[in-house]
Amino acid sequence: MPEPWLVIDGLVAGYKPGLPIIHGVSATVGSGEIVTLIGPNGAGKSTLIKAIAGLVHVESGSVALGGQAITGIQPDRMADHGIAYVPQTANIFQSLTVEQNLVLAAQRIKGERRRAIAAMFDLFAPLAERRSIKAGGLSGGQRQMLAIAMALIATPGLVLMDEPTAGLAPKAASEVLELVRKIAADGVSILLVEQNAKAALAISDRGIVLAEGRVQHEGAGQDLLNDPVVGEIYLGARRKAVA
Ligand SMILES: Nc1ncnc2c1ncn2[C@@H]1O[C@H](COP(=O)(O)OP(=O)(O)O)[C@@H](O)[C@H]1O
Ligand SMILES: [Mg+2]
Repeated sequence: MPEPWLVIDGLVAGYKPGLPIIHGVSATVGSGEIVTLIGPNGAGKSTLIKAIAGLVHVESGSVALGGQAITGIQPDRMADHGIAYVPQTANIFQSLTVEQNLVLAAQRIKGERRRAIAAMFDLFAPLAERRSIKAGGLSGGQRQMLAIAMALIATPGLVLMDEPTAGLAPKAASEVLELVRKIAADGVSILLVEQNAKAALAISDRGIVLAEGRVQHEGAGQDLLNDPVVGEIYLGARRKAVA
């Protein structure tokens, strides 16, 4: 198993002090590892991601990245810590062009911005071809690609992604997941939330099942896919009739 890069320990967090949604979650994501969070609606998957990014109130427990405590960081310091967050919705500016979106995202970085934008166009050819069109005119898959490019521009060590395939046609969804795999292959750690649990677990190193703000199961992606209990409850498998 790779060295843990993100270490979450006993995290209790929520939107209002005294009313936690996340009840003592511990988890790790190794360098270059893809860990997928699955679980029913309202389980607290998005809230957990937001707690890591400093976007919701942390009551207790800790978050560390590369050995450095980052519990309850200021969200505007995320990029300094090497974290990128791709929210579930409203993750691009539709009335701006593709290039303008990347220029905005590049404001967060200290290095040479032009070069960083050019690197994203090298990595994402469909975006390069469409650099002058408004982001609202992209297909669903291309919009997610743009949101991911905006996250990667700051060369993060950890990417938090909340349902990047939501609303996409199956082909576009598998292209986005393939992209996630490529990003991790470059050594970036990924914590992914997915409704599309089967497809996500298939590209993941590990999976965590979250329900009611607690870790219910965890294991290798393939083991969770084959686990009959997980399959029945979370992956839509049918219970076999017992004769
Ligand atoms: N902005 C918010 N303010 C207060 N409660 C919220 C907010 N967003 C979500 N919640 C509550 O937190 C719980 C977990 O939600 P969420 O983390 O979005 O679940 P998931 O992403 O697993 O579907 C739900 O009960 C939801 O109603
Ligand atoms: Mg959610």
